[in-house]
Amino acid sequence: MAAIAVERTASGPKMQVKEILVPNPGPGQILIRVATAGINRADLLQVQGHHPPPPSAPDTPGLECSGTVVAVDQAVTGIREGDQVCALLSGGGYAQYAVASALCTLPVPSGVTVEDAGGLPEVYFTVWSNVFDTAHLRPGETFLVHGGSSGIGTAAIQLMHARGHRVFTTAGTTEKCTACVRLGATHAINYRSEDFVALVKEETNGRGVDVILDMVGGDYVMRNLNALARGGRVVNIAYQKGTKVEVDFRIVQGRLLTLAATGLRGRPDSEKAVIRDHLAGEVWPLFETARLKPVTWRTLPLMQAEAAHQLMRESSHTGKILLAA
Ligand SMILES: NC(=O)c1ccc[n+]([C@@H]2O[C@H](COP(=O)([O-])OP(=O)(O)OC[C@H]3O[C@@H](n4cnc5c(N)ncnc54)[C@H](OP(=O)(O)O)[C@@H]3O)[C@@H](O)[C@H]2O)c1
Repeated sequence: MAAIAVERTASGPKMQVKEILVPNPGPGQILIRVATAGINRADLLQVQGHHPPPPSAPDTPGLECSGTVVAVDQAVTGIREGDQVCALLSGGGYAQYAVASALCTLPVPSGVTVEDAGGLPEVYFTVWSNVFDTAHLRPGETFLVHGGSSGIGTAAIQLMHARGHRVFTTAGTTEKCTACVRLGATHAINYRSEDFVALVKEETNGRGVDVILDMVGGDYVMRNLNALARGGRVVNIAYQKGTKVEVDFRIVQGRLLTLAATGLRGRPDSEKAVIRDHLAGEVWPLFETARLKPVTWRTLPLMQAEAAHQLMRESSHTGKILLAA
């Protein structure tokens, strides 16, 4: 089968198509003929050598895919050959076939094409687990997600809007802010020209928001604390502006704030299965009623993986960039 391999060259890493053997599903796994694979920022870091895959993961990049099940290990129940599914992967999505744990697999939601479904698992597993399991967003509370036009942001805005929350977000251009409002954000703040802390305070009568999902880090760590309401929670899932910061814990202690940081990839499948069950019960039905829609920015052929990564680096996208196998 064709798969993307990362070649380490003198001018830096290069992705190219290689012929490799179709993998065999092991215990508890299924084999998927891939329709599409989602591009994630973590893939860019992995190709650059900064985000090594866990020891058991394939070398081929790709943390999620959709497609048709073509083989099922005998221990797996509830998934059959011919089913259209999407799955969170430990790697291997940039290929014509990928092995997935049945515990991390969901059906393609009705109302969604199998192609668009390749961009759903990573964002919805991440958003659900951080916002609800870690930050415990409760009914009626306010929510802020940074990077509203990202894959993660477009999913978070839609889901919190659909669940009735008031949603604040930040994005880097007026066009992206407009797109975020169309997805359900109540307030989209252009972070290049506006101060999100001041705006959040102004719009909440000085109270602040209850939960923040942050992928920026750096100086945003302190600014997030200043934008939180008493008892507020912030979860960091990435640190695009750096991991090393000075925090004034008098603010954290005095206003009963909680800081958390999480990663999805390194968790055992048994933990991911719990998140999968929440998605199946509470999120996938929202696709059926069109309260949620996949936001696919562009789909490129597998052989253009390098160009797809370049698109993400340029960051003019809103939503997901996909590879069609
Ligand atoms: N910990 C985990 O388990 C986990 C799981 C999935 C994803 N992530 C992380 O979550 C982030 C989003 O992932 P993705 O795949 O959706 O990537 P993506 O689409 O490339 O998103 C990156 C986003 O960050 C925004 N951004 C950059 N600087 C910003 C700033 N100063 N203020 C506000 N927004 C800013 C960008 O907005 P502009 O283009 O407008 O600047 C862009 O929308 C990535 O950093 C990824 O590594 C973590």
